[in-house]
Amino acid sequence: MSTGGQPTNNNNTNKKKFKIAVMADTEASKAPEQASEEVKKPVEETKAEGKETSTASPEEKKTEECEGAYGGARIRNPAESDEEEDDDDFDDDDFDDEDEDTEEEEDKEGFMNMLQNFLMSKLHLGSQEEVPKVLEEVTVEGVVNYIKSGKCKNIITMAGAGISTSAGIPDFRTPGTGLYSNLEKYNLPFPEAIFDIEYFRNNPKPFFVLAKELYPGSFAPTPSHWFIRLLHDKGLLLRHYTQNIDTLEHVAGLPADKVVEAHGTFRTSHCLNCRKEYSQEWVKEEIFKDNIPTCTECSGLVKPDIIFFRESLPVRFFQLMQSDFPKCDLLIILGTSLTVQPFASLVDNVPAMCPRLLINREKAGTVDPMMAMLQGMFGSAGLALDSPNNIRDVALLGDCDEGCVKMAEYLGWKDDMQALLESTKK
Ligand code: OAD
Ligand code: ZN
Repeated sequence: MSTGGQPTNNNNTNKKKFKIAVMADTEASKAPEQASEEVKKPVEETKAEGKETSTASPEEKKTEECEGAYGGARIRNPAESDEEEDDDDFDDDDFDDEDEDTEEEEDKEGFMNMLQNFLMSKLHLGSQEEVPKVLEEVTVEGVVNYIKSGKCKNIITMAGAGISTSAGIPDFRTPGTGLYSNLEKYNLPFPEAIFDIEYFRNNPKPFFVLAKELYPGSFAPTPSHWFIRLLHDKGLLLRHYTQNIDTLEHVAGLPADKVVEAHGTFRTSHCLNCRKEYSQEWVKEEIFKDNIPTCTECSGLVKPDIIFFRESLPVRFFQLMQSDFPKCDLLIILGTSLTVQPFASLVDNVPAMCPRLLINREKAGTVDPMMAMLQGMFGSAGLALDSPNNIRDVALLGDCDEGCVKMAEYLGWKDDMQALLESTKK
């Protein structure tokens, strides 16, 4: 999920063949055996659009993907060059050495082009003036002025557990209070196992015990949720992408079509065996009776439709991601460590000049310029908060709720925000 070879190539991101990826924790290194390569790599690579499967050879696929990622720059496709050679009158063995030399030179040239385009787009080397600057200044004030200017009409919000901690729902990775640091009683082989589909199939009990403790419904939206709702009320919210399964954005009144629950939902459940659907009420009753929900048809395990590690994300996530992100003119990232893929790399899917505002306790999703270059080659670069060439990324560090209340105030929406906050109390 990266941008193209030139500033205007940014839309190449969207040309890139996109695939249904499985959820993977980039911090899986914390987890031993089970979490190794399997968790980090997508295991299913089906094209979401049209479900067609590429018939391209491995080389063609490589070329397709590189083209997608780098636009103009092209990695030479050996299959094509063979055709060219067939047309050539001089297809004598004597010319093989010469052909190899030419191939080598072309490869080098292709690589240099790709590198140059990459550096220009990611690090803005030699192309500063080509990237239209959207923010007058790369500060919170700059973002506020940009919103106020009326030029920004398609805001995408991306959220994680940090927007719900003040509602009493722990996040995952904050040392001490994060869920993953408080799972001793479950005797898990590694903390993420509680959401690991293979582990769940063999031992579903820990998940259901936790589900009972954290069952959605008994929590109220936070000021961060209300701020997102306010963006919607002001007609500025294109979509809200959330990793949370607590449904608090719905409680805050965001219409269902505005919300993408990237990590699924508790609202429906399915039998893992025969796929029979079960209602939230039925599953909730089983969970609260301390039963393991079991299929009435086939005795298979019934699991709420939240996405576990090694499971594919909902198709709707990929469909909307493809159409939304090219339109985005401001990305607001709230309360997430940006460590779980593919969600984390959504930040790379916005246009190259699109400002990105991170509202979080600490910086997240940043990479140093060298890592950005390497990762960018595989489609992910992250936020440029620490880059000297940063022209669009801003961090509002601290408590999410405070940040959101401040933003509403700076935007002149203090009263509207107050009214929404009052509705929580009611
Ligand atoms: P994390 O726990 O990884 O990150 C939460 C981020 O929010 C951290 O950077 C915290 O510092 C920050 N934070 C917490 N409370 C905050 C507050 N009140 N104000 C500001 N910042 C705050 O949670 P996620 O990024 O959401 O997957 O984790 C992503 C996924 O990892 C989850 O969806 C979950 C987990 O494995 C599943 O449930 C399967
Ligand atoms: Zn069944």
